[in-house]
Amino acid sequence: MSKTNIVMITSCKGGVGKTTVCANLAVTLAKLGKKVLMLDCDFGMRCLDLVCGLEDKCMYDLCDVIVRHISYDKAIIRDERSDNLYFLAAPYKYENDITVSDFKKFTDGVSEALELDYILIDTHGGNGPEIELGAAVSDMALIVATHQSAALRAAEQTNHRLCELGVSNTRLVINCFDERRVKKGELPGIIDIIDKTYVKLIGVIPTDHIFVIAQRSGKLVDSFGITNTVRAFFNIALRIEGMSVPLMHDFKKINRRILLK
Ligand SMILES: Nc1ncnc2c1ncn2[C@@H]1O[C@H](COP(=O)(O)OP(=O)(O)O)[C@@H](O)[C@H]1O
Ligand SMILES: [Mg+2]
Repeated sequence: MSKTNIVMITSCKGGVGKTTVCANLAVTLAKLGKKVLMLDCDFGMRCLDLVCGLEDKCMYDLCDVIVRHISYDKAIIRDERSDNLYFLAAPYKYENDITVSDFKKFTDGVSEALELDYILIDTHGGNGPEIELGAAVSDMALIVATHQSAALRAAEQTNHRLCELGVSNTRLVINCFDERRVKKGELPGIIDIIDKTYVKLIGVIPTDHIFVIAQRSGKLVDSFGITNTVRAFFNIALRIEGMSVPLMHDFKKINRRILLK
């Protein structure tokens, strides 16, 4: 079996789209035939179950598995969107009771038991224990930022922190990209954002109001039809798989000059 790729989706700022990116990237990879576990590590503030529409199915959480020794088969649930997609909830209450070595043992064990291609870890928007746990097992970190100055500074800080924790394979996801306002000069463009964060870009996700509606009913990109947002996730998934895919590949109605801003 090939090695499981563990990817944490992070930023020390809340509200930039970490959970949205985690859920939608996971379903995209699963639809590409990859076996994926979505692991919610936003301890206390968990909401990946809500975004995926799985809240009624979650009986157990990560602490139940690691601290209370509930078996994987009971705690990890299958997402009905794909036979390849699994989910494990974060604990509502966390008492710093998971050590790095416990967490590593868990990710090694579950990778082997489920023969996973990917574990995608959703993290908390801060500098809490989740970052250290995630960093200890991750092969790659996706740092999510929007156009906002605070999000850009947070991305730079997060990259710095991850570097200290030994994660050098970091990539930037620009989320809520607003082409119209970049064109008008109201918001920083892609090159400006890369310059401000010092992180290599892996993809750009447009701002799309469908997320607000979709997340109220637990819907993900697999139900959106073919839109630029869906293509954005597909392109990121292919790049994670090691393919070379041009920025905004296959996007419709996009003025390519926007890439130079
Ligand atoms: N590309 C996007 N376009 C429009 N709204 C988005 C986009 N990405 C995320 N959102 C919305 O932004 C809010 C915060 O997203 P969320 O994923 O919960 O952020 P985080 O996990 O970083 O706190 C949610 O209401 C979500 O629907
Ligand atoms: Mg979140």
